[in-house]
Amino acid sequence: MIDHATVEKIKNTADIVEVVSDYVHLIRRGANFMGLCPFHNERTPSFSVNKQRNFCYCFSCKKGGSPVHFIMEKEGLSYREALLHLAKKYGIEVVEKELTDEERARQSEREAMFVANEWAMRKMEKDLTDTEEGRDIGLQYLSQRGVTDEAMKAFHLGYAIDRGNELTDTAKRAGFDLDVLKSLGLVGISQHGREYDRFRGRIIFPILNTAGKVIAFGGRHLKGGLSKYINSPESNLYKKSNELYGIFQAKSSIVSEDKCFLVEGYMDVIGMWQSGMKNAVASSGTALTDGQIAMIHRFTDNITLIYDGDKAGIKAALRGIDMLLSHRLNVKVLLLPDNDDPDSFARKHTSAEFKDYVTAHETDIIRFKAKVLLDDVRNDPHNRIEAINSVVSSIAHIPDPVSRDVYVQECSLILGIPEATIAQSVATARRSITEAQKRERTRREFPAQTAENSIPDTSSSEKAADDDPKPETSFSAGNMANPVNPSVNQAHPGATVKKAIRPEANPLYPLERNVLRYCLRYAFLKFYTYETEITSPETGLPEKELRSLDVLTYVSDELSEEKMSFSVDIFARIFSMLIEMRPAFDAYLASRMESVETELESARTEAYARIRQSSMSIEEISREEKKLESELSSRRESAVKEYTKEYPGRILGSDENEEVRRIALELVLEKHHLSNIYLKAGNMELEEDRLDVLLVRAIDEWKNEIINQSINELFRQFREISGKGNTEEEQRLQAELTSRMEMRTRLAKCIGERILFNGRNK
Ligand code: UTP
Ligand code: MN
Repeated sequence: MIDHATVEKIKNTADIVEVVSDYVHLIRRGANFMGLCPFHNERTPSFSVNKQRNFCYCFSCKKGGSPVHFIMEKEGLSYREALLHLAKKYGIEVVEKELTDEERARQSEREAMFVANEWAMRKMEKDLTDTEEGRDIGLQYLSQRGVTDEAMKAFHLGYAIDRGNELTDTAKRAGFDLDVLKSLGLVGISQHGREYDRFRGRIIFPILNTAGKVIAFGGRHLKGGLSKYINSPESNLYKKSNELYGIFQAKSSIVSEDKCFLVEGYMDVIGMWQSGMKNAVASSGTALTDGQIAMIHRFTDNITLIYDGDKAGIKAALRGIDMLLSHRLNVKVLLLPDNDDPDSFARKHTSAEFKDYVTAHETDIIRFKAKVLLDDVRNDPHNRIEAINSVVSSIAHIPDPVSRDVYVQECSLILGIPEATIAQSVATARRSITEAQKRERTRREFPAQTAENSIPDTSSSEKAADDDPKPETSFSAGNMANPVNPSVNQAHPGATVKKAIRPEANPLYPLERNVLRYCLRYAFLKFYTYETEITSPETGLPEKELRSLDVLTYVSDELSEEKMSFSVDIFARIFSMLIEMRPAFDAYLASRMESVETELESARTEAYARIRQSSMSIEEISREEKKLESELSSRRESAVKEYTKEYPGRILGSDENEEVRRIALELVLEKHHLSNIYLKAGNMELEEDRLDVLLVRAIDEWKNEIINQSINELFRQFREISGKGNTEEEQRLQAELTSRMEMRTRLAKCIGERILFNGRNK
């Protein structure tokens, strides 16, 4: 840790004009200096340096700050690294502050991990070229894939000897701590408790952070059968979602080219590098995260995504757009010919050809989106409008008005719609983005506002049902609902139609209504997240995966599993409307979240500016930053929740069908009290926090009633035929009855037990 006084000294000594002059030719302009911005390409200077306030700022790309921030941005360094950089420039001696025991422990644990990783990297690098096995297997494979010696060196490629615990033993002899090796994933423990080299027999791709330290490894298996890559586990050093493969090797080219290529995998980064495109990084096969985008953004505003030209590639290209645009990046996409990845493409072409291909085929992401979506929906007027709206919404997210105008013109041509029309839609969408906050508040008050005004008089519709006693309810076909005679049921799903004067008279009515109520109120709400463990087939090591489940998915899975369906027609109708609503909801949420992200981003910028101007110590700054990030992410989370809860009710509550509207509003507005079991004195749990228990219970109660009805029906049939000499049929009915009654008992027990059920944690 750098001592506080030293930090102050560095901050006060570093002179913005001097610091910037190393990178930019400055011209005096009144009290200030101006120059061409080093953070983006421009022809007229918009970069200003204020000597008095020791501050720089680009009026065009909005980057800037203190000397420390300038260095961070320009050199891609962390705050601490930038301070050290400046200290060196000004010859300031850096006094490392005394650490607390806990800090020292953490620091030394991290240090030890870095040292072990570094050692392992060097060893495996050496084993690739200096051992027979390394040469015969590793080197042979790499050269066959056309990897040059130069690339192997630059990326520190290595080979892990395939001899059980060769690395483990060598490391132990060299004095490394076994726990450290285990936490790094270099050493695994077999089912029999024995240590083994986790990466053995694999080509090693070390993953370096921006400062060039080894934080993890990817190991590629060569023989097939086993999983193709294994990667280091998450650790104190390695948070997968915050890292990019190749960033260390690429960062200076990203700055000098003012552009970053994003590819999929290790081999792609290396292939591009060999073709002279050294500004490529990989997200390692997963979708980009905010953290990764922020990292790229430290070096450039321009990113080009490279994908396979197949359907999956196109889809992947479209997926991340909104997040990238909301980070104010200029996003382009490059599709490679079908079946080519950057690596194979690089091998088939000279680097000049590859570069020409990039220039010729790189497409601006919005143009790309417009074309792709339009192709998709050419013959479908409804979807066409949606596609256009989606493009409009993307354009609206671009902060710069001039580029927005350019896109409007262009999309007018592509989409065949008058420029003025698009311009107007974009303007509207843009306004709604900037007004998002205000409107969100209003929308939150939705239930209160509509309560009195919009519910139609229910007595009249009930009366209508009275007048028209058509069969309102029927059992669904299938084994759950009607075990008696499945064949008849399949042919005529309404065979056991139960005539009811009013749907409410159906005993299933309140139970189905209850389930539907949850579906409508919480449709797309993820109500629980669970971790599943997948066991790696090779190492037997558990790997964790997070999944989450929303209410509608859960209910519809459960219903189809049990072959149940809503017997009340209007409920069935609303349920299927909800199911069909998902794509629209996804689009809605995505567009709302774009505005939220814009808001959060400006809150973040503001907060950072405040932090920047304060005279906090590094610890204080990092505490502030952590606090800020967690605040922002909880704001994001609650925004998602609000939008999710609000959407289905709002849509169905204004449906053109009066009955749909009435029921939807009733269900949404109905005050519901948790049963006493859940609401112990003083324990004000929210319904939405207990959906795990409540949903299971609601479905079980419904199921229970279906079983009851089927038992009654079986009894009726049994009485009808009994004593008529049809013993075979009698026996069949009896057996069926017994099994149904057992089912009922089991279910009753479940319902009882579920009160105590606590297994599904949120
Ligand atoms: P690829 O299978 O395309 O690997 O996965 P590759 O490195 O590009 O190699 P080839 O040349 O196509 O065979 C892309 C990336 O996804 C991650 C790795 O980061 C890989 O580079 N991945 C893939 C894994 O982490 N584990 C796997 O089992 C597979
Ligand atoms: Mn690949």
